[in-house]
Amino acid sequence: MEVSRRPRRFFIETWGCQMNELDSQRMAGQLMQQGILPTREPREADVILLNSCSVREKAEQKVYSRLGEYRRLKRDGRELLIGLCGCVAQQEGERALARVPDLDFVLGPARVGELQDVLARRRAGERVVATGFPAERTYDVDAVSRHGEYKGMVTIIEGCNKNCTFCIVPQTRGPERSRPLAEIVREVRHLLDYGFQEVELLGQTVNHWREPGGDLDFADLLEEVAALPGLERLRFVTSYPRDFTPRMVEQVGKHANICPSLHLPVQSGADSVLRRMGRGYTRREYLDLVAQLRRARPDLALSTDLIVGFPGETEEEFRLTLELVEAVGFSGVYAFKYSPRPGTAAPRLGGAVDAEEASERLQRLFALQEGIQRQINAALVGKSLEVIVTGWGKQPGTQTGRTPCHRVIHFAAGSEPVTLGGVTRVQVEEAFAYSLLGRRIELGGTSGTAETPGTTGQEG
Ligand code: SAH
Ligand code: F3S
Repeated sequence: MEVSRRPRRFFIETWGCQMNELDSQRMAGQLMQQGILPTREPREADVILLNSCSVREKAEQKVYSRLGEYRRLKRDGRELLIGLCGCVAQQEGERALARVPDLDFVLGPARVGELQDVLARRRAGERVVATGFPAERTYDVDAVSRHGEYKGMVTIIEGCNKNCTFCIVPQTRGPERSRPLAEIVREVRHLLDYGFQEVELLGQTVNHWREPGGDLDFADLLEEVAALPGLERLRFVTSYPRDFTPRMVEQVGKHANICPSLHLPVQSGADSVLRRMGRGYTRREYLDLVAQLRRARPDLALSTDLIVGFPGETEEEFRLTLELVEAVGFSGVYAFKYSPRPGTAAPRLGGAVDAEEASERLQRLFALQEGIQRQINAALVGKSLEVIVTGWGKQPGTQTGRTPCHRVIHFAAGSEPVTLGGVTRVQVEEAFAYSLLGRRIELGGTSGTAETPGTTGQEG
């Protein structure tokens, strides 16, 4: 009898935020430790994981329709395991197993480290639901597949203790938990030894990190991590405006390797809406923080998240958001129509905004922001910027990278393309609203130290 020697394969579909991306890398790493290899083709896979997001929209419906597509792949009789992971897994739990007869297991975000064990139990016949927030969690830093990544991501704080009235994350990712500083530093060093030049610290409220049982805060953590030798670029997402202290602002000003780009979700420009959202800061406080940050770091590029059509949002309140967007001059805006989520307080506030009205507001916001971005980016034409290479461009022979301010830039690869995660210099030749186009600058004999006159290294 012929024995099949085909290696087993896995396929992971990832939705949502960076925490989910990292969770997928952790799950991929655990599968690879078992000798199961990645594939881009679900039809080839022996294990399919759907790492879901439930922050907006009809996430549950979308999950069930996708699971329906995957279960059809079981029809040809081959052994295929399908797992629902991520925030919808936490939310749905047992319900998902009941609704999808062929679903093999459900794995919540706080249980990602248990994938191998869950697979073993499934192979022994059990349909496992691993959800909830255990006190003890497995986090094997060696079992993270960072293949194909230009940056290394490190979770420093899990979950969220804020109670923004629109947000489902505290339910799906659980209460806040900071990892010990020593563990974080060990992981960052590991990434630097591995060759990463950029490290991104992750958390839903990343700047609310506290040393467990100690009194160090995020400013102390930045001080320590930014000083690690070999760390070229340090970023962190997502900062909560109210948790930014003057000491943290000082750190951002002090370390050249902290990237001059910060994601600082404001959600709305109207105090009345911010209050209904339970955000705990005012428009003035947000603008003051922006001013402090820009004093500390004049080249800082700020991006934000905004929600339009929050319950009760009036035209006047929305106009305050537009005004704030103009006043700050964000380099990027992620704006969403409000979407009621189960188990959150906002749907009970009443005053639902008409869907068409909300869409129209969103379009006005995007139109305004596009003009602002065009203008900000146009000012970069002619500058020489340090670029970290993130991959190949869509046009043949081009590569894509990120400037220190996290802008997307395309450039011709030339005869010696830069390796993924490598750093090069690019002169900006053309600017668009959402990207830049440039030409690589030959460094010649002065490799790595060439500076073009009239430019500041970190700008852009
Ligand atoms: N602390 C996390 C928040 C995760 S949710 C972070 O800032 O990354 C990411 C964004 O999704 C939020 O900032 C908010 O703008 C948006 N969002 C969350 N819940 C939403 C909802 N119910 N409707 C529309 N947008 C929402
Ligand atoms: Fe959500 Fe607010 Fe936390 S947006 S993740 S509850 S800070």
